Amino acid sequence: MNTLLEVRDLHVQVADRTLVDDVSLTVGAAESVGLVGESGSGKSLSIRAAMRLLPRGLRASGEIVFDGKDVLTTSRKELARYRAGEVALIHQDPRAHINPSRTVGQFVTEGVVDTRRMPAAQAWEAACALMRDVGIVDAERRMHQYPHQLSGGLLQRVMIVAALLPGPRLIFADEPTTALDVTVQSEVMAVLLEQIREQGRSLLFLTHDLDLAAAVTDRLAVMYAGTIVETGRSAELCARPLHPYTAGLLRSRPSATQVRRLQAIPGRPIAAYEAGAGCPFSARCAFAQERCHSERPPRRVLEGREVACHRAEEVAGSLRERAS
Ligand SMILES: Nc1ncnc2c1ncn2[C@@H]1O[C@H](COP(=O)(O)OP(=O)(O)OP(=O)(O)O)[C@@H](O)[C@H]1O
Ligand SMILES: [Mg+2]
Repeated sequence: MNTLLEVRDLHVQVADRTLVDDVSLTVGAAESVGLVGESGSGKSLSIRAAMRLLPRGLRASGEIVFDGKDVLTTSRKELARYRAGEVALIHQDPRAHINPSRTVGQFVTEGVVDTRRMPAAQAWEAACALMRDVGIVDAERRMHQYPHQLSGGLLQRVMIVAALLPGPRLIFADEPTTALDVTVQSEVMAVLLEQIREQGRSLLFLTHDLDLAAAVTDRLAVMYAGTIVETGRSAELCARPLHPYTAGLLRSRPSATQVRRLQAIPGRPIAAYEAGAGCPFSARCAFAQERCHSERPPRRVLEGREVACHRAEEVAGSLRERAS
């Protein structure tokens, strides 16, 4: 598979604080990848860095290569082209990212019209067609309405249309359904995935929901304290976690078919800058030994996956014992 996006050794810092610590990640052409982690683990900052859209005062270092070009060093002109046509971002909270005084039609079409990718009339037609594709029945009428006249679920569909209209090759979806009701969540997710798969686009899906991510992606990267602790094919990673944090996430979720006591991970998540010299997860880890507290585990390949844990073999072994 051709690699479309490659993030290498990404660090994000504010003053002397590290917020994202050594993130490396790839997304292939037409591949869906999930970036999973608790609140504050650094998911949003990683993709904002990948779009060179970090908040003021934050600095990114490392390499972000999209289709062979380094996003962090590319020219302003190239960057504008990249943001307007190659990638798109769907946010968690659509209302916070739409101008309330502009109509839906203006909002959806302005990007492609301003960058001269499409004349206004063609953009309008294409937007209406896409609105219908994502299940908005009265597309023409909706295009003339204002954001406050639309429900949250409908507005997120509009956001999906705005993201898809320029024909981006990669979509960053940052918790796109978290703010919606559960029933609406699955519909919106299904619509987004259908569009991405039909058009052969790539997806980087950010969520705290490991089950949801596993269900909709080809590969997963699990983040903890600003760094990626495990990556692998989604089904394999969930069936057989190699990192104790992944194993803990899997044990702490409710089962749809079984009532049982949930096993929460003890302690609280930490930010990257709170981690000491050792493994950032060591304070909460049942497998931790002395060296875990003093020596940062490198990323290494095990069973065809990548994991940053000194004791991954023992983690896998103990899970095997429990299953048998
Ligand atoms: N503008 C900023 N200035 C300083 N620190 C920031 C800023 N934005 C984020 N952070 C910090 O960086 C860390 C990572 O934040 P980020 O928003 O990437 O987390 P996240 O994984 O997306 O979490 P969530 O699930 O809550 O969206 C957090 O500790 C956060 O407090
Ligand atoms: Mg976030």
